[in-house]
Amino acid sequence: MRTLFDRLGGRSAITAVVDDFYDRLTRDPRVLHQFAEERLPSLRAAQVAWLTTAFGGAPGQPMADLAAAHRGLDITDDQVTAVLGHLEAALSDAGVEPELQRQAMSIVSRLWFARVF
Ligand code: HEM
Repeated sequence: MRTLFDRLGGRSAITAVVDDFYDRLTRDPRVLHQFAEERLPSLRAAQVAWLTTAFGGAPGQPMADLAAAHRGLDITDDQVTAVLGHLEAALSDAGVEPELQRQAMSIVSRLWFARVF
C-alpha cells in the first residue's frame, strides 16, 4: 500500500507545503516571535524531514524529539492552534484532497500531543 507520503506527492510536495507553512508562521503575530530568523532555513529542512518520516516516507529514520525541540519555549494552547491551523491551510492551498488532509493532520496532532513534556 502507498504511504501517506507518496499519496501527498512525495518530497517536492512536502517541501512546498513546508515552505508555505513557514511563510504563514512568520507572518502571524501570535507565533512569529518564537522563531529566530537565523534558525529558519535549518528549521524548514528539519520540518521537511520530520513530516517525511511522520507520513511514512523514510522508514526507520529517527524523528526529532518534539519535547526537546520545544522545551523552554513556553508555548500556549492558542499558539498550538495557530500552528496546526497554518499547516492545515498550507495542505489545503496545495490542493491536497480533504481525506488526505485529515489523515495528515491527525498524525501531526497525535504526535504533538503525545510528546513527553
Ligand atoms: C503543532 C505541532 C508542531 C510540530 C509537529 C512541530 C515540529 C517541529 C520540528 C520537527 C522542529 C525541529 C526539531 C529539530 O529537528 O530539532 C520544531 C522546532 C521548533 N518549533 Fe515546532 N512544532 C509544532 C508546534 C510548535 C509551536 C506551537 C511552536 C511555537 C509557536 C513551535 C515553535 C518551534 C520553534 C521555535 C522551533 C525551533 C527551536 C530551535 O530553534 O531549535 N512549534 N518544531
